[in-house]
Amino acid sequence: MRYFSIESSQMRRMAQFLLALVLGLALLTWAASSVVRTTAQEWFERDVNSRARLALAGARPSLAAAWNGDPGALRAQIVALNRDERVMGVALCNADFTVRASTPGFPEAFGCWAVGSRVRGEDGWSSVATLPTGRASVNAVPVEELGFAVLVQDLSYIERRESQAQTILLVTFALLAALALGVPMFVARWVRSGRRAELRKVRMEMEEQPEDSSLQWNAERLKRTLNRHLHGEKIVILSNREPYLHVRKADGSIEVQHPASGLVTALEPVMRACSGTWVAHGAGSADRETVDRFDRVRVPPGEESYDIRRVWLTEEQEQGYYYGFSNEGLWPLCHVAHARPQFRAEDWRQYREVNQKFADAVCDEADSDDPVILVQDYHFALAPAMIRKRLPAATVIVFWHIPWPNAERLGICPWRDELLEGLLGSSILGFHTQLHCNNFFEAVDRYLETRIDREHHAVVRQGHRTLVRPYPISIEWPVRWAETGETAAESRARVFADLGLKPNALLGVGVDRLDYTKGIEERLEAVETLLERYPEFRGRFTFVQLAAPSRTKIERYRLLNESVEKLTERINARFGQDGYSPIVLLRAHHEPPDVFRYFRAADLCYVSSLHDGMNLVAKEFVAARGDLKGVLVLSEFTGAARELTEALIVNPYDMEAASEAMMVALTMPAEEQRDRMRSMRAVITQFNVYRWAGKMLEDAARLRSQERVASRLSARSLVG
Ligand code: F6P
Repeated sequence: MRYFSIESSQMRRMAQFLLALVLGLALLTWAASSVVRTTAQEWFERDVNSRARLALAGARPSLAAAWNGDPGALRAQIVALNRDERVMGVALCNADFTVRASTPGFPEAFGCWAVGSRVRGEDGWSSVATLPTGRASVNAVPVEELGFAVLVQDLSYIERRESQAQTILLVTFALLAALALGVPMFVARWVRSGRRAELRKVRMEMEEQPEDSSLQWNAERLKRTLNRHLHGEKIVILSNREPYLHVRKADGSIEVQHPASGLVTALEPVMRACSGTWVAHGAGSADRETVDRFDRVRVPPGEESYDIRRVWLTEEQEQGYYYGFSNEGLWPLCHVAHARPQFRAEDWRQYREVNQKFADAVCDEADSDDPVILVQDYHFALAPAMIRKRLPAATVIVFWHIPWPNAERLGICPWRDELLEGLLGSSILGFHTQLHCNNFFEAVDRYLETRIDREHHAVVRQGHRTLVRPYPISIEWPVRWAETGETAAESRARVFADLGLKPNALLGVGVDRLDYTKGIEERLEAVETLLERYPEFRGRFTFVQLAAPSRTKIERYRLLNESVEKLTERINARFGQDGYSPIVLLRAHHEPPDVFRYFRAADLCYVSSLHDGMNLVAKEFVAARGDLKGVLVLSEFTGAARELTEALIVNPYDMEAASEAMMVALTMPAEEQRDRMRSMRAVITQFNVYRWAGKMLEDAARLRSQERVASRLSARSLVG
């Protein structure tokens, strides 16, 4: 199991594991040492006994010879037998059990009367007994018909030695255990403190910069960049989704909607800063009624800083290009979310046709021969080459908002070569991560005749160069939806009242389009596991899922919709009680102010994508928490997890880890929440969407000036 990076909990788990290991080993060592001790004792005693009997047997003839002779000679014999320091005493007993001679201090317990009746036959008798001084061995052998000799030896030294050996063993073990426990904990603490120090440093550096410092990217700086480097060129953006939809309501009035789209979240502030034209599919029910005769509408309402140029699609075109090739083909192809891509020739035909239609609209909107055009996402893989054909000097910047698959996976698409060729019409091709850039290089290398210039991160095909770079996308900072004037406490009170929650309730939030890549089912199951494993949250923890219906004409999305509904019902039936429902599923489009209210009200936000290029919901949650409260639980399979390292990072497939992360989030001390939130906010402050766009525009400007110099040089050499 890959463990989520909750440092304190990770350390706790590691410590528990090591402690259990050490206790287990201690028990084992103790048992083993007892067995060894008993066995060694038996061996030692057997040795001592056999040595004693050998000594007695050897002395037997001389004892017999001296038995009835000079008492001095007999005494000398027993003194000789008694010479070893471990011999406690020697006695010679007559056949009638009376003492013939003995050494001083011979233990009374082994007197001639006590031993005599046991000495039988040639072998005599031997035994081990416990005396007040410790264990002792006694050996008695007959001396012809005259009597018998008794030799008593001290065995207490064996016990002493063994207990010393056992002490040494246990001390060694204790030292090793201390090392085994201490070293990993020390290393973990050291790494953690190093990382904290690094983050503190970054944070301090960031905090030292004033809000409007020239180093800080903001709308103003982006505008300046455009003016300085691109001489205020008009920007043309192309995306399928438009930033504002005009929708006719049931009461007949027209409402302006902000679609649930990461792309729009990121690009709209950029467009407000740069002005220009945004070319997109007119998908709102009242879109046609709100455009001028050139199909343009000025937005944002009340601010009117740029144009949307709406392109109309027939139902057939929308079916083949948007639902078919884009969302049943490319979407599952690019996401590792276990949905089989569908590739239909008719969808591909529509995709090509619609790409041409949008490419033409973009060229119509350009007001020079070398415009700056930003093409967005997988709906338009062919448009860059189509635009280049009409406007060869255009600077076409493509950003692919979703992951790019590895070459094998891409290989299953029957039109993979055409997709790659279309994208190589761009000047700059951006992905969220270096990994996706590498995947692209690999695919180009495998399927096309090109030159890959690894040093400059570029692909050269038929004399045209495309830079392929990572540009991790972000959100505007500060986010206008976070500046509502409503405090976090007010938002919480409002949301709690709307959901009918008790004041001491705990709230989790998820915000997504109803898409199978977002891991919504896995998220609900993780909530179920949380309630299973930690009953203290039953009746107290509610998870509210804001789910915007999406791509509902596609079967896979309809199935997801049903499955999420069933899952919600099942979990609520299992853990719901007296008006309490652990899951609240709000299946509807929510406008940004409402979404931000939920963000501010929640104790945790769980982003559980199974695979996601970036995921801007994670960044929006952090942006919403100016109060530095709340915890972000974030899937490791999002691009955002690389930047928001202070989130609780989890594998969304691992229910135990995810539920444990939620438990940690719900019990996290306020100070730790503040620390983590502050770090993440510092990262987004710096790496905001103005920087994202600014970096691409700076690269584009550099490219344009290089191309100008190159074309001047080649013109001169032609003249020369
Ligand atoms: O970011 C990925 C993305 O597919 C965008 O391209 C799109 O705008 C957004 O998600 C929402 O999807 P859709 O436009 O199909 O509703």
